[in-house]
Amino acid sequence: MGLMISGATLAADPVNGKKLSAQCSVCHGKNGISKYPEAPNLAGMSSLYFEKSMVDYQKGERHDRRMSLIAKNLSKEQIRDLAAWYASFEVTVTIPEL
Ligand code: HEC
Repeated sequence: MGLMISGATLAADPVNGKKLSAQCSVCHGKNGISKYPEAPNLAGMSSLYFEKSMVDYQKGERHDRRMSLIAKNLSKEQIRDLAAWYASFEVTVTIPEL
């Protein structure tokens, strides 16, 4: 990860993403595991999928009364930083024995 000069190519900043995520945790959980049944988990989500979802909300290709409003207020850089923050979570899964 080298230093970039142009704003358009600045590396994602997960530290900024962590700060921004304060406004997401009420629904998506501080640890990215949602306690709100309608909201999905964000912990460990691929940054590619995360960014696509947010851009789709912005463009109206995906609509949700909460997320469409929230996405509208975020810049490309902020979305990228949030994506990097949630993608960095390490998720462990326990498969139930049935
Ligand atoms: C008021 C509750 C609420 C808040 C606050 C909130 N979300 Fe959401 N989020 C939701 C719900 C509900 C959905 C599912 C919407 C749908 O069905 O499309 C969702 C979906 C998403 C998705 C799509 C995930 C997927 O699996 O497709 C992303 C990404 C996301 N939120 C990111 C964020 C980020 C980043 C923030 C903070 C900037 C945030 N959300 C704040 C409720 C919230």
